[in-house]
This record gives sequence, C-alpha cells and structure tokens, in this order.
Amino acid sequence: MMMDNPRDRAHWFQGGDARCDFTPALVDRPCQLILLGPPGVGKGTQAELLCEALGTCHLSTGDIFRAAQGQSEPSPVLQTALEAMGRGELVSDRLVIEMIQERSGCLRCQGGFLLDGFPRTVAQAEALDAMLAQQGVILDAVLSYELPAEEIVDRLSGRRVCARCQMVYHVATRPSRVDGVCDQCAGRLIQREDDRPAAIQVRMRACEESTQPLTDYYERDGRLLRVPATGTPEEVLERSLEGLHARAPMGQTGSPVT
Ligand code: AP5
Repeated sequence: MMMDNPRDRAHWFQGGDARCDFTPALVDRPCQLILLGPPGVGKGTQAELLCEALGTCHLSTGDIFRAAQGQSEPSPVLQTALEAMGRGELVSDRLVIEMIQERSGCLRCQGGFLLDGFPRTVAQAEALDAMLAQQGVILDAVLSYELPAEEIVDRLSGRRVCARCQMVYHVATRPSRVDGVCDQCAGRLIQREDDRPAAIQVRMRACEESTQPLTDYYERDGRLLRVPATGTPEEVLERSLEGLHARAPMGQTGSPVT
C-alpha cells in the first residue's frame, strides 16, 4: 500500500527496517503534535493540511490497519484487530502499543510527526509519554477537535476513501473530479466498512468512553489545545495554526513552510 508520492511513509506502514523517502521540509524546529477527536471530526483531513503547512509527517494508526487489510495472510493477532475495527470497536491497547513501539523511529523523524488516532486511551497516552521521554522528544501540543454529533454523522456517512492511497473525499463537501476515482492515484473510491451506520454507533460510544479521560490527561499539564471543527477544512486549519502559534512564537513550534 505504499504511496507513489514524496510523503512515502514506508517505516510507519511496515515497521522494522523499512526506510522512508520522506524528505523533511526546512523548518527551524520540527513540530510534534497529536490530533484527538471523535471519528469523522476531520482529523485525517486536518492532518493532510497541517503536514502540508508544517512540513511534517502524518502518522495514522487507522491507516496502518487499513493497509494491513490488503495483506493476503495477516497474522492471527492482526486478523483479530481487523475484526474489532470492522465492528467499530477499539483494538486492544497491548497490540496498538506494540505496533507503535515497533515504529518508534518515526517519533524521531527529522520532519517531526503528527499522530492521528493514537493515543486513544490513557494507557496508550502513558505508553507514548514513556517512549517520548526515552527518546528525549518533547510533544508540542495535543489538538482536540470538537463538533456536534449530527455533523459528525453527516461527515462519516458521506466519506469515500481511495482503496489504494487512502486519500479522503466526501460526496458533498470534497468530491473527486471524476466520480468514484481518486484524483491523486486514479484508485477506486470506496466506503469504509466501519462507516456503515451500525459501526458508526459503536465507534461513537467507544469514543465517548475514552475521550474525556484522555482530554483530562493532556489538559492537566497544559498540552491540550481545543479547536472547534466547524466550517470548511481550510477554516479549521487556520484556527489550528492560530492556536499553535499563540502557544509558541513563530519559529519555535513549526514555522509554516512557504
Ligand atoms: P481511525 O482511522 O483513526 O478512524 P477515526 O478516529 O474513527 O477517525 P476517522 O478516520 O473515521 O475520521 P477523521 O476524524 O480522520 O475524519 P476525516 O478527516 O476522514 O481508526 C479506525 C479504527 O481503527 C478505530 O475505530 C479502531 O478500531 C482502530 N484504531 C485506530 N487507532 C487505534 C488506537 N490507537 N487504539 C485502538 N484502536 C485503534 O473526515 C471525515 C469526512 O468528513 C471526510 O469525508 C472529509 O472529507 C469530511 N470533512 C472533513 N473535514 C470537513 C470539514 N471541515 N467540513 C466538511 N467536511 C469535512
């Protein structure tokens, strides 16, 4: 499932010794961020825009699982994880933490990182803090996107993704140029299995249970930055960058790449 573009994330997708072609943009200091928020709030969409603006690398745990769905013989552990994901449930902390540990080199990426979908529980957040401390990496901020539930359901039910490169579209707000075909790689656009109504409900419930303790965890030491996710993707991006720059002067936390 490797993408044929300059943001090849080989190490993130494959773990182990895989090497990326990712070329970090020239910034004073790389940006290290986490995106939190309910399913469908627009984390993946913002991640793409933020990476473009900050020159950093998009690390999504959901993308790792979706890439693994294409494997002919996934390991029994991975198969169990994919079944949980299809039902809309969270994958076990143990498996997800092991998966991130295998890819911990990405946390030292010269271009910085933007974690999307990890951590999702306090246990995962604690494990991440331990990994970052071990590597001497400081987290800049945790962006928490917020949106009313009705708007989230609209975003999820209209979402289409490219089966090949994972690019995200929406039938109404972000359609592809040719119906059903990815603008970026000409792959086929599909509806995610977990975007069916029954799975959406399970995901929203799982999120309600895990979100509050997680936002409390990051709010306690001032790392949380709440961002309203209403409006167009570009408006949300602007709000995110304003929030980040208000926390740290330009040039200290990821000066935008021009
Ligand atoms: P994951 O892939 O992380 O999914 P998610 O968190 O449920 O988030 P989504 O990808 O559904 O939504 P999003 O917020 O990225 O929204 P998007 O930008 O696509 O995880 C999937 C599953 O993997 C989990 O359920 C779990 O099983 C497992 N998993 C992953 N990580 C795990 C972990 N750490 N622990 C345990 N299990 C884990 O946008 C949605 C739609 O809205 C798109 O169509 C988009 O075009 C549109 N849109 C976006 N922004 C706007 C806007 N501003 N205005 C209008 N439309 C917009």
